[in-house]
Order: sequence, then C-alpha cells, then structure tokens
Amino acid sequence: MDHFLYKDGQLHAEDVPIAEIAASVGTPFYCYSSATLLRHYGLFNDALSWGPHLVCYAMKAASNLAIVKLLGDAGAGMDVVSGGEYARAKAAGVPGDRIVFSGVGKTPDEMRMALEGGIRQFNVESEPELRMLSDIAASMGVTAPITLRVNPDVDAGTHEKIATGRKGDKFGIPISRARDIYREAADLPGLQVIGIDVHIGSQLTDLEPYRAAYRKVAELTEALRADGHSIDRLDLGGGLGIPYETSNRQPPLPSDYGQLVREELEHLGCEIEIEPGRLIAGNAGIMVSKVLFVKEGEDRDFLILDGAMNDLIRPAMYGARHEIVPAREALPGTEKQPYDVVGPVCESGDTFAKGRDLPPLCPGDLVAFRSAGAYGAVMSSEYNSRPMVPEVLVQGDHVAVIRPRPSYEEMIGRDTIPPWL
Ligand code: LLP
Repeated sequence: MDHFLYKDGQLHAEDVPIAEIAASVGTPFYCYSSATLLRHYGLFNDALSWGPHLVCYAMKAASNLAIVKLLGDAGAGMDVVSGGEYARAKAAGVPGDRIVFSGVGKTPDEMRMALEGGIRQFNVESEPELRMLSDIAASMGVTAPITLRVNPDVDAGTHEKIATGRKGDKFGIPISRARDIYREAADLPGLQVIGIDVHIGSQLTDLEPYRAAYRKVAELTEALRADGHSIDRLDLGGGLGIPYETSNRQPPLPSDYGQLVREELEHLGCEIEIEPGRLIAGNAGIMVSKVLFVKEGEDRDFLILDGAMNDLIRPAMYGARHEIVPAREALPGTEKQPYDVVGPVCESGDTFAKGRDLPPLCPGDLVAFRSAGAYGAVMSSEYNSRPMVPEVLVQGDHVAVIRPRPSYEEMIGRDTIPPWL
C-alpha cells in the first residue's frame, strides 16, 4: 500500500495534489511519500521482531539525504556500496555502528574512510579484498569487523541483470571454498570475523530461492562454528520484490519473508541483518511528467512526454514496466486508447511503454509513473544535457524540494575549459 491516491479526482501524494507540486517545481520530477517510506521500513522491522535484528536500508535504491535521514531517524541502519553513500549516511546523521559496507570493488580510500568514521561491518567479497582490508586496518592500528559474502549458487529467478547468487555471477566467494577462506580471514591481522553475508538478487517474487540460500547459510554457520569461528551475525541481503502493476500477482509480503527467515535461521541464535532497498523506496515514489504532444504516427499514437530515459532508465535498461496513471482521474466509463509513451531523447530506446492503454490525454496533462521511487532518480543522468531531474518529499501536507533542478548555468558551470582552448 502507498500514499499516492486520488482525492476529488486529483492524484495526491499524501495530502498534496500532484498538480500543485508540478506548478511550483516544474516537470519532470520525482515525488516521495514519507509515510510510505516509513511504513515499508516498519513492515520489515515488525517481520523480524521475533529476534535481534537490524534493517539496513540499501541506499542505492534512493539515496537522497532527506530519505536517508528520514529512515535513519526512524532507527534504520544503512547498507552502503561506495564512499559517496557512506558520506551521505554520515551526513544524514546515521552512526557508523549502523552502517554496513557492501560491494565487490571497495577502494583503499573507501576502506580507510569507513574505518576512520566507524563501521558496523564490511561485507567482504573476495580474498584480495580480505588481504587489502587486513593490511589497511592493521596499518591504522584498528580492527575491521567483517562478514564474508558467500555466493550460494542459487538462481533467484529474476531479471538476468539483477541476479547475483549464481556461481557465474561476480559476487561473493564460492560457498564451496568458504571454510578455507574463513580460516585465512581468522589468521589475518586487523580483521574480526563476525558473521556471514549473502544476497542473491533483486526483485524476487518467490520465497523459495531465499529458502534454498538460507539453508546453505545455516549449514555453513554450523560448519564454521565447528571450525572455531564465532558466527554471531547473518546479513541476508535484500531483494524482496514489489508489485509493479496493481493487476499483477502480489509478491510475498515482508511478514512472509520474516517468517521464512525465522523458520530457517532462528535456531542459530544469530543477530539478523537485512538490506532491503526496492521494497522500502519503490512504491514510495513516483515520477511525474507532462504531455508535450500527442503525435499521430502511421499506425499508432505517440504520447510525447517531457520526461525521458535519462530521468527514468528502467524501461530502457531492463524492459521494466511501470504503471502510468493520469494526474486527473479519468471519469468512470472513459474508453482507453493505446499509446506508445516516449520521451524527447534522440534514440528509439527512449520509450517508456508500447501500446499502453490510457485514457485520452492532451498536451499539458500530467502523468505519473508509479513504483519509481527505487532505482529511479538515482539512476538518472543529464544525457542530452537535460538538467538532473529534481526530487520532492511530501509528509502530510508538507512539501519540500529535496534536490532542486539545476539551472542551465549550474549544469554547464560544472564543466571547465582548459587554458589552451
Ligand atoms: N544488498 C546488496 C548487496 C545489493 O546488491 C542490493 C541491490 C540490495 C541489497 C538491495 O536490493 P533490493 O532490496 O533493492 O532488491 N537497478 C536495478 C536493481 C539493482 C539492484 C542491485 N543490488 C533495477 O532498477 O531493478
């Protein structure tokens, strides 16, 4: 459930009409609902309330400082994958002992930054990374708490580009070699092994791959304990999917997921950590765009919007389907018509949807792409020199621009011309 609903025929974000925000911010823009973000975080927290746990929001989904602060103030930990995300988490006031550092290619500077600023744990993904972290921590005279991310060789059954837990994927250490690598980790200076990490992919709509992976993690926990390691924390990754279309089969709920974790892992007595991103932010955000033209093509009508693939890349990149709804509710009985919904960018890939049935729309009408809160604004760019799309946060009847649209001068002003030109 989210807080983007029609009231008096107008799409609202919580208590604010979308058209009102569009009038002051201009289009396109992203709009997030605080209540939805907090609700989704709360669902995960409740789902794991049977034991010690920390929900670490995967910041990559939507990393605006305001969103990070909102969730951090509510008690969330953060899962970061770069120095930039670490800096954002700290700037939003999240203490280091609630930040976990994931990612397959951490740099020495990023390791130092996190060791200096405080870190809950590094999720280490390879032997060379293990050795580098050991060297750096030892040279700084500190101890880095670590888990090793294991690759359980489980197919998450999701889109090829976001499956991460099969043996051919670049992530984690092979679970078959985990005992040897844990032995090495225990012998290295500057490291303290505290647990195991696993993440098998994103937009999972079935719980069974989780069950398969977590069974392997449970077995590994017992084996590592028998080898003398203290395994007190299990980081189970993120990945729970969201419904992108209201008519779709609903993916499992956080409560179902929490129950599965309990069934498979509670007996081990570990602290549980999870890293959800999409389920927290996805349906908590929309991208709002305006119809520029309706163009009659040879065999179809094109709805040409002022938003483009640079603002929301998921349809072009993953063939993702986002529900598109008009900001003004169609009257009951209005007949829909098919449109190819496109942006102004100069490539045919700049297509949001083909043959999408929508109520008749005219230039100036606003439309909203639903479920755009996760991997939306964060994946935007200034391709075609279209200034970075702005972000707005709503809470009740409060509205705040949390990232303004840069002017052309600001956008161009970041470039510099070398003195010899
Ligand atoms: N933890 C790790 C280590 C991850 O790599 C990811 C996502 C997450 C947690 C959060 O997963 P989530 O709960 O959001 O599914 N850009 C793609 C999604 C990429 C996901 C990358 N990793 C998209 O737009 O679908």
